[in-house]
Amino acid sequence: MTKSASNPTEHNVLQPGVPNLTPVMKADDVVQLLHNRYTAKKYNPDMPCSEEDFQAIIEAGRMSPSSMGFEPWHFVHLKNQDVIDEIMPHLWGGQGKVEGSSHLVLLLGRDQKEMKPYSDYLTHIHEDVQHYPAENLDKRMKKYTKFINEDQDYRTEREKNLWVDKQVYIALSNMLTMSAALGVDSTPLEGYERKPIEEILIKHGVYDPEKFHLSVMVCFGHSDCEHREKTRQPMEEVFSVFE
Ligand SMILES: Cc1cc2nc3c(=O)[nH]c(=O)nc-3n(C[C@H](O)[C@H](O)[C@H](O)COP(=O)(O)O)c2cc1C
Repeated sequence: MTKSASNPTEHNVLQPGVPNLTPVMKADDVVQLLHNRYTAKKYNPDMPCSEEDFQAIIEAGRMSPSSMGFEPWHFVHLKNQDVIDEIMPHLWGGQGKVEGSSHLVLLLGRDQKEMKPYSDYLTHIHEDVQHYPAENLDKRMKKYTKFINEDQDYRTEREKNLWVDKQVYIALSNMLTMSAALGVDSTPLEGYERKPIEEILIKHGVYDPEKFHLSVMVCFGHSDCEHREKTRQPMEEVFSVFE
């Protein structure tokens, strides 16, 4: 097993052609990590998430998998207190949490204009990011069109945006797990009135509505409250085998 000693991100990442992963954690440790991740309901403002940890959390989002590898997201660290104050009345799920947290992140989904077959964005991903030959674009876009419209049967713009949001939530999940691994508390935030919050964000130029919509939010920091007991259905109620 060869691992790279020198790479641009300074992480010990596998190189192309290397067949599989070397385990970096034992199964028990990973399961323990998942049991320890919990949604913080109150933060200690005197214990912020460090910038180093925050960058690792965002890296977990950036490295997330997405359908066809289109990475249909953008993450905004919202630092502007005036904008935070303005959205707060509409962010009922975040009240009492965002206040003491140190980092509030908006997870944006690429909007349908950006995700249309042959769009500048998808062409850029195909050619500049994934390094596929330009002459393969036509074949790939035809496949994508069938996949979205027929195979998956997404019809309206809203349905297609929700497909994008599915990808964004994978990035959210990875950020939550990374945060737990670093001992940083997190709160995923979906409890909000979407329309007024989007209007406020767009009014302040936080994002371009021609390119993005708001998918979900998350805040990070350290809680000084005791972790609540985890409640989950037993394994046999959520997992079965069909032979
Ligand atoms: C997509 C998503 C949105 C959520 N939105 C909120 C929210 O707005 N406010 C909140 O306090 N918790 C929110 N939660 C946290 C859930 O209530 C929490 O994950 C669940 O009760 C399980 O608890 P645990 O995360 O501590 O294991 C959200 C969780 C997810 C995954």
